Amino acid sequence: MGFLKNAWYVAMWAENLKEGEPRDITILDQAIVVFRTAGGGVAALENRCPHRSAPLHLGSVCADGTIECGYHGLRFDGSGSCVLNPHGKGIIPAGARVRPYPVCEKHTLIWVWLGDRPADPAEIPDLSALDNSPQEHVTLRDRLEMDVHYQLVVDNLLDLSHTAYLHKGVLGNPQTTAAAEIAVQQSGNTVTVSRWMPAVPPPGLHDLMFHRDGALVDHWAAMTWHAPSVLVNDAGVTRPGAGQAEGTTLLGFHLLTPVSRRKTIYHFAAVRMNPVPFPEPLRLEIMEQLSRLRRQAFTTEDEPMIEAQQRAIDHVGEENVTPVLLEVDGGAVRYRRVLERLLKDEAACAS
Ligand code: FES
Ligand SMILES: [Fe+2]
Repeated sequence: MGFLKNAWYVAMWAENLKEGEPRDITILDQAIVVFRTAGGGVAALENRCPHRSAPLHLGSVCADGTIECGYHGLRFDGSGSCVLNPHGKGIIPAGARVRPYPVCEKHTLIWVWLGDRPADPAEIPDLSALDNSPQEHVTLRDRLEMDVHYQLVVDNLLDLSHTAYLHKGVLGNPQTTAAAEIAVQQSGNTVTVSRWMPAVPPPGLHDLMFHRDGALVDHWAAMTWHAPSVLVNDAGVTRPGAGQAEGTTLLGFHLLTPVSRRKTIYHFAAVRMNPVPFPEPLRLEIMEQLSRLRRQAFTTEDEPMIEAQQRAIDHVGEENVTPVLLEVDGGAVRYRRVLERLLKDEAACAS
């Protein structure tokens, strides 16, 4: 499937965009430079100077918030207009412009819009737990790069039955996660796949922040996909029969940025909601373990598997692959239908 252009994509965690340090990012094969303008604003421009095509991220941000090309010194403001030519009479040619992209800082992330439709930050999914929660309950804001099409990662996240095998013991168990019945719900352009697993041994990650003794729990996991590439997992544990409100949740944020057809940047973080209060330094130790275990699961288990899957698909050609579908694939089938419709609508508007 093609890429949806009219959508907000994560460029980076906001904490990684420092004043005076332009950053380059490629999204949907478009090279973009992102930088902080005067007063803490953010700008995103095509990362190519109209003079001799030098990438602008190799230049520097000036005190007035403009960006200076590192090759011959043309300066551009956040709207992409050239505001200074330091050579000769200083005449600015009419073509000295760079394409600007709508950009927005929200929920501790920098988002870029690539489509032609007017960009509305209200369309960014609600990830407010990332900014409203006490930061002591937020894990490391992390990222990794994978040599895969982003939809293979969506497939991975919307089918958490894989936790029973690929992340056995830490994030799931074959007797419980794989056997659990799933419910698939669609609401507009979101799809949620949920499981309820009563009286089961807790996955290691959840035991860590709850009883810490392996006692049985009621366990739930509900992964929601927001078109096209934001996923939020509400996964928690509670005492058997006590109800979700009595339990504790790890809200996982999975933000996929399609760089190209075979490269994806995966930003991730998690927030402990309704957290069991642990004294220091145990709380800090738990947070460090959560950050480390999640990174370990994604980099040493998911990433090699999904990259191998991508190679296996490419070996035969994706047009020759027709997946056998299982009950657990209900979510993947549903989100692809939504995405197909959005792509069709976008193509119709463009023509
Ligand atoms: S390439 Fe940018 S000023 Fe020459
Ligand atoms: Fe996984």
